[in-house]
Amino acid sequence: MGASISEAIARASEQLRGRSDAPLLDAQLLMSYVLMRERPWLLAHGDAVLPRTEHARFTRLVSRRAEGLPIAYLVQSAGFYGREFSVRSGVLVPRPETEHLVERALAEIDRLRDEAVRVLDVGAGSGAIAVTIACERPQTRVVATDRSVEAVQLTRANAARLGVSDRVTALEGDLHFAALSLGPFDVIVANLPYVPTGDLPRPPDPAGYEPRLALDGGADGLEVYRRLVPELPRILRPGGTVLLEAAPPTIAGLAHLAQAAFTDARVEIIADYGGRARVVCVLTREPDGLSRSSTTQSEPYSSHA
Ligand SMILES: C[S@@+](CC[C@H](N)C(=O)[O-])C[C@H]1O[C@@H](n2cnc3c(N)ncnc32)[C@H](O)[C@@H]1O
Repeated sequence: MGASISEAIARASEQLRGRSDAPLLDAQLLMSYVLMRERPWLLAHGDAVLPRTEHARFTRLVSRRAEGLPIAYLVQSAGFYGREFSVRSGVLVPRPETEHLVERALAEIDRLRDEAVRVLDVGAGSGAIAVTIACERPQTRVVATDRSVEAVQLTRANAARLGVSDRVTALEGDLHFAALSLGPFDVIVANLPYVPTGDLPRPPDPAGYEPRLALDGGADGLEVYRRLVPELPRILRPGGTVLLEAAPPTIAGLAHLAQAAFTDARVEIIADYGGRARVVCVLTREPDGLSRSSTTQSEPYSSHA
């Protein structure tokens, strides 16, 4: 007789020990994917015998996970801000840290108190940021751009699956250029590649299986942002906000770029829950010339720091 569901999960969990941060969870997620059942169902039916075909499929997926492939690529799904996003190999897996950028974007949208808020997301990937903003705030219209055709297709698919395709426009192209005629924007967000080439992850690190186009920020990590940031004042409405994700060692240079592009603006660096500098926030002056105060706790950026 073949293995039961719980036996197969236990063996897989053992196989993944030392190769995954969460071996049991990964084994359960893969089983859940193969059987198309939620995890609580697996626990309630642990004694059931795993049919041969499903067992073979499960074993193959566990081996690929043991090689380092991200779990999200194997189950073609990742959670972000309380929703499930379709994910596929060739497009970055959305990260929990990026939820900080979303939180701040939502606070800025609320501050505007407008009935129609225009948002631009440059380098949208799976659409995690763009689609979440559209889902969370019905008064927004979001334009999402990406150089990768696969990413643009995935953003469209996620927007459709989560019921916001009428308010999310996904366009293929370099940086923001495809969106020029749709501006100006009230809020511009970007999580562009910022890893210095020399620090790029390699397999079996799961991030080593993600596309280089999504991670490689060139020699100092700033090559992509360096082309985008000086362009932003032309497409941001006065009083608007820019939020850019990065991490050390790149983020200080990014804040510097932002301050040079928006000389009048207040530039802050927001840390994530782990205390790591994560988002550069640019608060531009209101059209009446008033400067803006912060909506959340953050460090004002100082070029002398
Ligand atoms: C770090 S990933 C972020 C994806 C998504 N925004 C997220 O937070 O999960 C960077 C994204 O920028 C895209 N990208 C890289 N260079 C670009 C460029 N020059 N113009 C537009 N998009 C670019 C990549 O294809 C990738 O989808």
